[in-house]
Amino acid sequence: MTDKSIYERLGGEDRIRDIARTILDKHLANPVVKMRYVDTKADEVIPKLVSFLCEATGGPQKYTGKNMLEAHRGMNINDQEFMAVLDDIMEALQEHGVDERTQQELLYANYGMRREIVGV
Ligand code: HEM
Repeated sequence: MTDKSIYERLGGEDRIRDIARTILDKHLANPVVKMRYVDTKADEVIPKLVSFLCEATGGPQKYTGKNMLEAHRGMNINDQEFMAVLDDIMEALQEHGVDERTQQELLYANYGMRREIVGV
C-alpha cells in the first residue's frame, strides 16, 4: 500500500478528472478568486489540469501546457488568492474521500509551487 504513487492512490485519470472539476467549480464559487476565472472555458482548462495533475502525481500522461511560472506570470496573484485556491483543493480532496496522508502530500506539493505562482 505505502509505495503506491499518489496517482494510483487518487484512483487514476477518471477520478483525477472528477476532482479537477470539483476544484474548478469551487474556484468559480469562491468570492476571493472567482473573478480570475470569468474567461475560463472549462472544456479547455480541465484537460490541461488533468494532464498536469496526472503527470505530477506519477501517472503516465504527459503535460504539455505551460509551466506554473509561465501560466501565472503577469497575473499578480497574491497570498490570499493562493490560500483560497489551496482551501478549494483541500475541500475537493476531502469531498472525494482522499485519504489524509495523500491530502497532506498534495498540500505540500501545491504549497511548494507558491514562488512560481504568487507575485510573478
Ligand atoms: C498550486 C496552485 C496552482 C496550480 C497547481 C495551478 C495550476 C494551473 C494550471 C495547470 C493551469 C493551466 C496552464 C495552461 O494554460 O497551460 C493554470 C491556469 C490558470 N491559473 Fe492556476 N494554478 C494554481 C494556482 C492559481 C492561483 C492561486 C490562481 C489565482 C487565483 C490561479 C489562476 C489561474 C488562471 C486564471 C489560469 C488560466 C485559466 C484559463 O486558461 O482560463 N492559479 N493553473
